[in-house]
Amino acid sequence: MANNKVQEILTQALEDIKTLHKGNIEEIVNLRNKYLSKKAELMALFATLGKLSPEERKTLGQEINEARNRIQLELDAKQKEAQEDLLKEKLEKERIDISLPARNYSKGALNPFYIVKNQIVDIFVDMGYEVVEGPEVEKDLYNFELLNIPKDHPARDMQDSLYIDENTLLRTHTSPVQARQMELRKGQPLKIICPGKTYRRDDDDMTHSHQFAQIEGLLIDKNINIGNLKATLELFLKKLFGQNREIRLRPSFFPFTEPSVEVDITCASCGGKGCNMCKGTGYIEVLGGGMVHPNVLKMNGYDPEIYSGFAFGVGIERIAVLKYGIDDIRRIYQNDIRFLNQFKKKD
Ligand code: PHE
Repeated sequence: MANNKVQEILTQALEDIKTLHKGNIEEIVNLRNKYLSKKAELMALFATLGKLSPEERKTLGQEINEARNRIQLELDAKQKEAQEDLLKEKLEKERIDISLPARNYSKGALNPFYIVKNQIVDIFVDMGYEVVEGPEVEKDLYNFELLNIPKDHPARDMQDSLYIDENTLLRTHTSPVQARQMELRKGQPLKIICPGKTYRRDDDDMTHSHQFAQIEGLLIDKNINIGNLKATLELFLKKLFGQNREIRLRPSFFPFTEPSVEVDITCASCGGKGCNMCKGTGYIEVLGGGMVHPNVLKMNGYDPEIYSGFAFGVGIERIAVLKYGIDDIRRIYQNDIRFLNQFKKKD
């Protein structure tokens, strides 16, 4: 029969263990003293074994041992748990933030030149134009002769040129690409734009630079008339500058187009009434164009009786200056961060 005293102590011990507070090692130590030290009640029972019969001694001894082992195991488990809790708490308290704030990569901005160039290209690509390129160092043949500007023709004076040798120059406009593309397409209809750099021996004033850029446009097909040119340019300029701007074609002269036009849009400042910006005219000139001259068609392999076409040339910097109200064209090339930052995209 189990010894009542041992069972009583064991029950009490387990009861006490249940009431331990989480993480309190001191309480565990106290319970160890109370139940497992030499002076503990359970241990005192050992001393009584000597007075018992060998049979009883064995049973009681075993019982006491079992009770002691049980209490010890329980307390060990509690102690382990408490130590782990303490460690966790300590680690949590002593945690240091070793992460650094991320480096600040400031966002760049496209130069207004490229903003405008990309917009123009996108508008024409949407209209089905193909984007092509041509060389900046160009033959006199393409830059002038095939565009109906023979050697020694006074029209050459319109474009002060930078010659490399007698027959080679830095192209003065993107129009030589017209001749190059016509040569390439061998009399087939075409619809191209060509963005690129151009060079002229111009004075270094606020409105000119020796290097600038244009976008050339050329469309050749059957039954093309000046109405098509006007509609195309109107769509283009309204998309670029806003639907409220009106356009106007003025007669002009280019050797490679006939008739030739200068294209104006209503002034952004006064809306067409006339102000300082537009010198009282209500309009601002934005580009040149016209119907491809029959001589140009003929010289470049197209029969002017069957084919007609239009061409235009847009100065990219000029458009940027007009669109953003830039006071000096040279700012576009100066890489001044204070200027460029103003073109940052808003998030
Ligand atoms: N190449 C002309 C210029 O640079 C512009 C232009 C292009 C005019 C195409 C008519 C047709 O002034």
